Amino acid sequence: MALTFDDGPGPYTGRLLDHLAKARVRATFFVLGELVRPNARTVRRIAAEGHELANHSWSHPDMAGLSSRRVRSEVRRTQGVIHQVTGVRSRLFRPPYGSTNARVGRAVAMPQILWSVDTMDWRHRNTARTVRIVTKETRNGGIVLFHDVHRPTVAAVPQVVTRLQRKGYRFVTVSELFAGRRLRPGTVYYERD
Ligand code: NI
Repeated sequence: MALTFDDGPGPYTGRLLDHLAKARVRATFFVLGELVRPNARTVRRIAAEGHELANHSWSHPDMAGLSSRRVRSEVRRTQGVIHQVTGVRSRLFRPPYGSTNARVGRAVAMPQILWSVDTMDWRHRNTARTVRIVTKETRNGGIVLFHDVHRPTVAAVPQVVTRLQRKGYRFVTVSELFAGRRLRPGTVYYERD
């Protein structure tokens, strides 16, 4: 299964990276382009520690409400800054709010990765609840959505890892989760089935 973290990097991302390093777990970070340069050291650390960097747009708009031209701009600027700062070419896109449609898919021209488990962490901001939801809802091939911009979410990660490991799960990046399968540009993926 894959742990994914959206909307960062933020003030707690460094601590999250410490937790992941200690547990030897790799994750996928859907970062916002506008936060990459202000957090360049953290973004380089994400890449250097073997995590996957992926594209969550430049400024977190609802893509379904944008012109194709603005969709492309949001995606390309983010691809550009990730590459400039880390040398990495991100391969995956996650539309903010999971809001997308066929036109957005064509404009984005990258696989669109949604999720099979929504922790709702941004709403309740509760560590125990985050742990409970992930433990209960995760299935084989699953993709779990977190937001590392919230402190209680980051605090939940060591317990999430311990509980899932106890159940026998292995943690991979989203690209690893889909290894051997061709991801099509524009297509939406929720999990590996
Ligand atoms: Ni988001």
